[in-house]
Amino acid sequence: MCMAILQKHSVSIYRQEYKHAICKSQYKLFISTSSSSHRQESFFIQPMATHVVSFFSIALIFFFGTCANIVNGEDPQFTYLGPYGPRKWGSLSPNYSACSHGKFQSPVNVVKSKCVAGRHLKPLDIEYNVVVNATLVDNLFNVGIKYDGNAGMLRMNGKNYSLIQMHWHAPSEHHLNGLQYAAELHLVHKAVDGETSVVAILYRYGHPDPLLSKIQTKLAQLKKAVNSSSQQQQQPQIALGTFTTKQIRKHTRKYYRYVGSFSTPPCTEGIIWNILGKIRSISRGQVEALEAPLIVGCKHNSRPVQPLHGRHIEMYDDKMNHY
Ligand SMILES: *[C@@H]1O[C@H](CO)[C@@H](O)[C@H](O)[C@H]1NC(C)=O
Ligand SMILES: *[C@@H]1O[C@H](CO)[C@@H](O)[C@H](O)[C@H]1NC(C)=O
Ligand SMILES: *[C@@H]1O[C@H](CO)[C@@H](O)[C@H](O)[C@H]1NC(C)=O
Ligand SMILES: *[C@@H]1O[C@H](CO)[C@@H](O)[C@H](O)[C@H]1NC(C)=O
Repeated sequence: MCMAILQKHSVSIYRQEYKHAICKSQYKLFISTSSSSHRQESFFIQPMATHVVSFFSIALIFFFGTCANIVNGEDPQFTYLGPYGPRKWGSLSPNYSACSHGKFQSPVNVVKSKCVAGRHLKPLDIEYNVVVNATLVDNLFNVGIKYDGNAGMLRMNGKNYSLIQMHWHAPSEHHLNGLQYAAELHLVHKAVDGETSVVAILYRYGHPDPLLSKIQTKLAQLKKAVNSSSQQQQQPQIALGTFTTKQIRKHTRKYYRYVGSFSTPPCTEGIIWNILGKIRSISRGQVEALEAPLIVGCKHNSRPVQPLHGRHIEMYDDKMNHY
């Protein structure tokens, strides 16, 4: 039954042990719902029904909760599974229509042989050496870090983009030559005119990532904060103190650039993506730590790749561009 549910929703399952974790949760829920008069679907449609405050509803939220869009309390919830999943995002709200009707959506599969040589492109000019207070945030659909002040700058096409937040997805959202990686970090920058540019870093499984190692204990605290809070709609936060992202400055000599969208609702377009060519490594424990604070429907928080619709992806390579 569990497998049938998973297949029905075409869930892309990355790791075997994960499949079991999700299965168990859904199975538990299924058993408990069968004793009530509700049909399974009604729980998807009204997952936060308020009139039944009981262990059951708490269990429901814990095991099957949707990830609320905290940025705008009025916008509906979305998940990465089932009826609130990526294929349905566009129908959840008029504000999300770009998710289904947009022609410039993200993420995409980057096929190196089809990339255009970006001869006018320059090495990414990134400067994240500013010491500034940061906060680790559980956005429920991902774990991220937000900054209180100027955390650094990306300079591109004569424009300054300030780093405002970063967050992780696992497995990766962008694919390289059809390959999905273990995880992906998005560094989100905004210019004064509101234009957004994201620097994306792909990770494969291997040695621990030094940036995440620095916040290992804070991630564990975040998980505890989630567990102790019965109000799943709140965004648990852990202060990190001053936190620099110096480690990310290296290896910007090869990257892929294209214009796409936010990879979560409202899927706003016009986002300039820069996917670094250098793949970093992350340990399994670190990926698990990033998933742990999230709700089941969002633990696997990668949107499927979107069609290019004629878009070209430019490739900047320091070696090539010097010929
Ligand atoms: C759409 O977004 C606007 C502006 O952010 C908000 O006021 C409105 O409530 C949203 N509509 C829905 C249906 O969520
Ligand atoms: C960081 O926050 C702490 C506590 O609020 C404050 O004392 C300190 O001055 C802040 N540091 C910076 C660099 O803003
Ligand atoms: C970008 O920031 C630098 C300082 O970091 C400043 O010198 C420059 O004038 C800024 N450029 C624009 C276009 O605002
Ligand atoms: C979180 O809560 C779950 C379910 O109540 C429990 O099984 C788990 O051990 C808790 N984890 C922590 C770290 O407290």
